[in-house]
Amino acid sequence: MKKVRKAIIPAAGYGTRFLPATKAMPKEMIPIVDKPTIQFIVEEAIASGIEDILIITGKLKRPIEDHFDSNPELEENLRKKGKEELLGLVEETTGLNLYFVRQPYPLGLGHAVLQAKAFVGDEPFVVMLGDDVMADEEPLTKQLIEGYEKTHASNIAVMRVPHEETSSYGIIDPEAEAGDGLYNVRKFVEKPDPEDAPSDLAIIGRYLLMPEIFGILENLEPGVGGEIQLTDAIDELNKTQRVFAKEFKGERYDVGDKFGFLKTTIQYGLKHPQVKDDLKKYILDLSKELESGAIENNMDPEAHELEAAKEDEE
Ligand code: G1P
Repeated sequence: MKKVRKAIIPAAGYGTRFLPATKAMPKEMIPIVDKPTIQFIVEEAIASGIEDILIITGKLKRPIEDHFDSNPELEENLRKKGKEELLGLVEETTGLNLYFVRQPYPLGLGHAVLQAKAFVGDEPFVVMLGDDVMADEEPLTKQLIEGYEKTHASNIAVMRVPHEETSSYGIIDPEAEAGDGLYNVRKFVEKPDPEDAPSDLAIIGRYLLMPEIFGILENLEPGVGGEIQLTDAIDELNKTQRVFAKEFKGERYDVGDKFGFLKTTIQYGLKHPQVKDDLKKYILDLSKELESGAIENNMDPEAHELEAAKEDEE
């Protein structure tokens, strides 16, 4: 059985949900307190035993490459000032086995993954989506690798979502659970309307795939949204070899969504040694203010004006 050594992180998307912040900056570089979201993904890969990581980028994504490069001037400056702790943080993201390739056109997630064909070769590999930050005692990618070691087959991470949200996800049609939270799957469907969704088990952003997926992706017709969909390719793969779904029981933070991003920032802040005490106090005081209604009077004056203007228009 071949070892899982390689991971792909697609990072070519425009990040339109975070405009204007993402007009000139990759969404993957937006920080959760002090760490760019993509660094959480890279850390999960390394903690799961992954050796080589390919990041699929596109236009305006150079800051990602720079983030994982050395910065000799900054390092020298911190060294001279004796700022060893900061130096450690800067050096932590240097010297990893990271590779980059560009997706020339935004033709969909399946098309992005196809750009990794030569990098992956003939080995099982993982795909990790940057919008999903996962927290569990054992990293989710490691759980998928263990699933592969048991089943010798592809393992796709899934999680229950509210039924009305199925049209935002790939959804599986599960057969009976095969133990250890693993399901055999009848069908994988990309973004079905709630009335057509075969279950509430949604594909979250971690996939362990067999290399045969590339032959399928090369010949795949565009699906939902006119894009080459990874979910459609997985459904095809499932017709010729077993593909399992692994139910994730940990915490998932959707940092690709504004509210999800705010929640993640607060959760991470509450664990961050430098800010956790102040943040906790702030949240407790804020809740009291919110409960008493005092916060209304505190509103940003500009926002207040905007709000008033909107009411005038209506
Ligand atoms: C992608 C996949 C979808 C999956 C989702 C998880 O969709 O196409 O199957 O459920 O990621 O976050 P996107 O969020 O890129 O539209």
